[in-house]
Amino acid sequence: MSITSTELPRVCVIGAGSSGIATAKVLHERGIPFDCYELSDRVGGNWVWGNSNGVSSSYKSLHINTSRQRMEFSDFPMPDDLPDFARHDQIAAYFDAYVDHFGFRDRIRFETGVEHVARRDDGVFEVTISTGETLEYDAVAVANGHHWDPRMPEPAFPGADTFRGEQIHSHDYKHEAQLAGKRVVVLGMGNSAMDIAVDASYHAESVVLAARRGAHIIPKYLFGKPMDQLGGARLPAWLHWPLTRAMLRMSTGDLTRYGLQKPDHRFGEAHPTISGRILDRLAHGAVTPKPNIAALDGDTVRFVDGSEVGADLVVYCTGYRITFPFFDEGFVSAPDNELSLYKRVFHPEIAGLSFVGLVQPLGAIMPIAERQSQLIATQLAGGYALPHAERMQRDIECRREAIRKRYVASKRHTIQVDFDDYMRELEREMKAGARRAARGQRRPIVHTRARVATSPAAA
Ligand SMILES: Cc1cc2nc3c(=O)[nH]c(=O)nc-3n(C[C@H](O)[C@H](O)[C@H](O)COP(=O)(O)OP(=O)(O)OC[C@H]3O[C@@H](n4cnc5c(N)ncnc54)[C@H](O)[C@@H]3O)c2cc1C
Ligand SMILES: NC(=O)c1ccc[n+]([C@@H]2O[C@H](COP(=O)([O-])OP(=O)(O)OC[C@H]3O[C@@H](n4cnc5c(N)ncnc54)[C@H](OP(=O)(O)O)[C@@H]3O)[C@@H](O)[C@H]2O)c1
Repeated sequence: MSITSTELPRVCVIGAGSSGIATAKVLHERGIPFDCYELSDRVGGNWVWGNSNGVSSSYKSLHINTSRQRMEFSDFPMPDDLPDFARHDQIAAYFDAYVDHFGFRDRIRFETGVEHVARRDDGVFEVTISTGETLEYDAVAVANGHHWDPRMPEPAFPGADTFRGEQIHSHDYKHEAQLAGKRVVVLGMGNSAMDIAVDASYHAESVVLAARRGAHIIPKYLFGKPMDQLGGARLPAWLHWPLTRAMLRMSTGDLTRYGLQKPDHRFGEAHPTISGRILDRLAHGAVTPKPNIAALDGDTVRFVDGSEVGADLVVYCTGYRITFPFFDEGFVSAPDNELSLYKRVFHPEIAGLSFVGLVQPLGAIMPIAERQSQLIATQLAGGYALPHAERMQRDIECRREAIRKRYVASKRHTIQVDFDDYMRELEREMKAGARRAARGQRRPIVHTRARVATSPAAA
């Protein structure tokens, strides 16, 4: 059975960051009707420094830490003259060029936020946008990003309310002038902490890097190649990790030599901390490592080992919360950053609701968002069918259990995936879902507005 565009479901895409444009592009080329809403006046989301959406976490010195060759979309290579680890504006320009190349800019409604999404009993989504209009859609693809809503330390450190200096989250760090001449304490061992401690080491009066646990620090290059392009990354996990651990031991060695805490986990059991510069700055004494903050008092920060420093600025690089301000909390929410999704894409109970880029890969997000979008579009066109509810639930439980076993218990590790393994998983899932669709085993996406065909016509 073939399907016509009038039978295809109508889709609302929320956000035109790198994930939203990946979805919009696939829907556009497959002729699936959609509207993409974007708060900002331009695409690129997080990669637009000073974005008018007011929620970009980028800062002046930001460069990608996943090499451009691993980050580019499959059918639109990044320009050869870009550095391996390009700057934010080069990446934002690439996303702009992508939209123009595939010709769907006019399908994005800029400076238009999605304010509320609800689902009627008949399955239709009612989407209220910032103009006040409420529109109907058969499906919603959420691509609002998960690195914009700051998570401050929970609970706040004792004395935080009386500290005389300034306290900010890394989300509000925009340029080095904020650090100039100050005594700075940076908290965290993720990538934000590394970048901000390094920036501070050149501009601040003094810099302390405090952490509640140690982290393995991965250089950007190994053996003259971007670390994420070493052949091992494409090997299965059981072979990849021992190999990578051995390589890392050879390159960075014992991190306690730099004064850092010994990690309480093996490499691969936490989101990777990538920095080509922090060890150098520690070695030069330009950054002083400390354990976790115990308390703040007046203009003093005390650490759990009893030592203390005077401080003018504390930068909490403590990660982000996964939130969806346009959903009622009882409808969809992610308490403690947990949201159960089948294959990290499909809501298992709400037909037609999918999420793009809601993963924390050991690798880049963009090719993943592209493949997730292909899965969503194929489902909407009838060429992919989800399995039954119990099977989805089992898969979700297995994934959660695997994360629990492997990763350090932390709210930053609820949506982890291994880039290559997950890309292969999505490929297998596409085939499995096509077989289910061909057998006629499918969950309906639309109820009143359109119908989904049973053949994999647009796959
Ligand atoms: C400092 C930093 C550095 C990073 N570096 C890397 C890296 O090197 N490599 C990598 O792969 N990942 C990196 N990441 C992860 C980052 O999440 C991705 O690079 C990428 O930004 C994800 O794209 P996205 O489209 O999912 O989200 P975003 O880039 O956050 O885009 C979301 C978009 O949705 C829009 N939006 C949100 N809510 C609404 C609404 N209600 N209505 C309409 N529009 C809405 C926003 O305006 C925004 O444009 C980094 C993250 C941070 C914070
Ligand atoms: N391209 C780049 O160079 C770049 C730069 C910045 C960020 N990023 C990306 O942006 C995303 C977010 O990174 P991020 O570094 O901002 O956040 P993150 O990866 O979530 O790291 C948060 C850090 O804060 C610590 N932490 C959290 N709560 C704490 C508390 N209450 N007390 C003490 N420590 C606490 C965490 O420790 P635990 O591990 O113990 O939880 C962790 O070390 C990641 O995907 C990252 O790769 C990329």
